[in-house]
Amino acid sequence: MRICIINGPNLNEIGTREPEIYGTLTFQSAMDSWANDYPDIQLELFQSNHEGAIIDHIQLRKQEVSAFIINAGAYSHTSIAISDALRSVDKPIIEVHLSNIFKREEFRHKSLIAPLAEACIVGMGMQGYKMAIKYLLEKI
Ligand code: DQA
Repeated sequence: MRICIINGPNLNEIGTREPEIYGTLTFQSAMDSWANDYPDIQLELFQSNHEGAIIDHIQLRKQEVSAFIINAGAYSHTSIAISDALRSVDKPIIEVHLSNIFKREEFRHKSLIAPLAEACIVGMGMQGYKMAIKYLLEKI
């Protein structure tokens, strides 16, 4: 099984960016531990700060992977274009947010990706990605 994790803008700075909200673990170290925990799953991580690059990647990988885990960062709240790209994905999509977006500013309460996702995991930090992987492993 191959899972594509897509991270949107500013998520490349996780580990040092607002650690009181997002924690201090980097994606590289989290990826290493997930790869170790789930040796039979192929995990690919794509991060971009650019909306079009995220859309290109969804289009490029949607036939090849079994599922997507996506945290589109701030684009989750604004990008019709990314949600349109996800509309033509016929594989499970799990939306993850490190922070509990519902506990934060009102503009973060709405996600344009949530209606397309099979499940949304918020507020569990990096563990949210692991929960998503575990869920997909059992489901697919
Ligand atoms: C985030 C929440 C978004 O509102 C924010 O813009 C991010 C990170 C999260 O993982 O909690 O960049 O997606």
